[in-house]
Amino acid sequence: MAKPIYITTPIYYVNAQPHIGHAYTTIAADLMARWHKLAGRDVFFLTGTDEHGNKIAEAAAAQKISPQELTDRVAMQFEAAWRALDIDHDYFIRTTSERHAQAVRKILDAMRNARTPDGQEVIYSGYYEGLYCTGCEKFLTEKDLVDGKCPDHGTVPEALKEKNYFFRLSAYLPQVKEAILSGRVQILPEEKRNEVLGLIDQELTDFSLSRERVSWGIPLSFDPSQVAYVWIDALSNYISGIGYADDETHFRKWWTDGHVIHLLGKEILKFHCIWWPAMLLAAGERMPDEMFLHGWFTVDGQKMSKSLGNAIDPHDMVGQFGADGTRYLLMTQYPFGIDGDIQASRFVTQYNADLANDLGNLVSRVIKLLAANLEGVIPAVAKGIDGQAELQAQAVKTADSAYEHIIGYRPQAAIAEGIALVRATNRFFNDTTPWKSAKAGEMERLGGILRVCLEALRIVSITLYPILPSKMTALRTMLGCDDSTLTLEHARAFWGLQEGTVLTVPEPLFPRLETKRKAEEAAPKASPESSESDGLIDISHFGKVQLRVAEVVAAESVPKADKLLRLQVALGSEQRQIVAGIAQHYSPDDLIGKRVVIVANLKPATIRGVESHGMLLAAKAGKRLVVVTVDGDLDSGASVS
Ligand code: MSP
Repeated sequence: MAKPIYITTPIYYVNAQPHIGHAYTTIAADLMARWHKLAGRDVFFLTGTDEHGNKIAEAAAAQKISPQELTDRVAMQFEAAWRALDIDHDYFIRTTSERHAQAVRKILDAMRNARTPDGQEVIYSGYYEGLYCTGCEKFLTEKDLVDGKCPDHGTVPEALKEKNYFFRLSAYLPQVKEAILSGRVQILPEEKRNEVLGLIDQELTDFSLSRERVSWGIPLSFDPSQVAYVWIDALSNYISGIGYADDETHFRKWWTDGHVIHLLGKEILKFHCIWWPAMLLAAGERMPDEMFLHGWFTVDGQKMSKSLGNAIDPHDMVGQFGADGTRYLLMTQYPFGIDGDIQASRFVTQYNADLANDLGNLVSRVIKLLAANLEGVIPAVAKGIDGQAELQAQAVKTADSAYEHIIGYRPQAAIAEGIALVRATNRFFNDTTPWKSAKAGEMERLGGILRVCLEALRIVSITLYPILPSKMTALRTMLGCDDSTLTLEHARAFWGLQEGTVLTVPEPLFPRLETKRKAEEAAPKASPESSESDGLIDISHFGKVQLRVAEVVAAESVPKADKLLRLQVALGSEQRQIVAGIAQHYSPDDLIGKRVVIVANLKPATIRGVESHGMLLAAKAGKRLVVVTVDGDLDSGASVS
């Protein structure tokens, strides 16, 4: 018997709202879990929220609410986002739950009572002195800093000295390394495995697993004046959520006897691939089997972040593309294991091409022709139709090839298998011209062609079910198929429909979306010479426009471009260059010292060979143009709302 599969996502911090970065891993895990179920495996899928630590306490204080209120609110938002995206997790773990606290105490007690392979204490007390970044929730070394600041958060870390309990990580590194080298613990993709092995060879130091100054956390049972370090707390979710402290049988099934898969983003590699296996070894538990570290994506070339105001809310995407459309679009942008860019401006075009045209139209053409000529009844199999053998051969291999891609962590390729079958079926439909048979009264041939298309669609409904669960369920209902045939096994045989079943004409599965130019150009680009300089940036869509006050510190004309001025502006502590199409209205000297308003979150663009990073706002009436400025003593960098 194949082992049960236990699959997890990272648990997400509740100091920010859910965005499509979080959705990305969660959808991937959901897709994989559904695939393994199709293949007949017993699967448990866990996700949840990471709710302790200073970062959360500070976020709550900034909003003048208690940490518990904040965590309750944001955890609900994560759950709501996953509902909207049709995520079918088996359990949602919250680190502020009693169930989780019990598990953290239990694993720390187990570690506290254990001895390292060479007989030393696993947990020992000592003093920690270092530079702590609350944004990262970790200590940084001098060489991590850029200009004395955390490179990820741009903040100066705090110098801390406090009594802590330390985990003797060093005693477990040889075993962790051996497990990775032997393949007992698989770290994927390959280059991430090498990165982990490189880190281990740098002889990582023991780390402190408790905090004295933090109060928003889980107190240690052996010293309640300290709380568990938030990463120790967070990693333990993978066992607390399946009953480590409160349901032994369940825990043994999924952890000890299961095949454990952690999916995560590449930035949390060290915690997962080194600390976590070492903690488990120390506590006498099995290490996970596979950890897949996927890349990070930018949106229209920009890092997604709260401060840039460009984080896309999953609900906005679901509102426009539906749950299935959103899942599809997010998973098909670039291969899973690498970094990528998501071009929100192309979503509508891709949705229309793949889902509305290729898949949706195929379904409606086949079913309409059937309804109009054969009373909507699933016809008999006919012989001698050109192209049938080829289509059939491709169809019966489709789901197996897709599942192989899933096992290899290539969700994009798995989806592409399903879409390739849709396209091949469309070609078959077009090449066999069934509408001509209908006109000519060749009902047997017509029926034969449509039956082939319907069977191919049945296989599509299985192969694309994991990414499009609700639309493929609707398609299956239409075809008269129930859940008992929703299996990989049933996608391997070509003839599976019930002749004589009456089908109904469906509502369009994927209604075409408007491709208004504005909607397509949701992501603004910096180009003062385009129509957008007339104020036509669509701010209703993705990538909210961020307006900020900037002070012009230098200005000059651009050679051979009589409309353009090159401005240097101060934006808080940053200096930027902006090219603006205002030379016919302002001389460079007029502008120096003015506090103008700019669109700050644009990708840099090159205009007449000069880089421009941002766009100036101006009001226009007829031929007159006036740059928008602000009065008063607002500092540059201030945001405009
Ligand atoms: N709470 C920790 C994880 C603890 S797990 C024991 C944490 N949380 S997080 O809210 O910052 O989420 C990080 C995860 O969100 C990443 O590992 C990744 O799964 C996902 N992503 C967030 N933004 C992303 C992108 N821009 N691109 C891809 N994935 C992203 O770290």
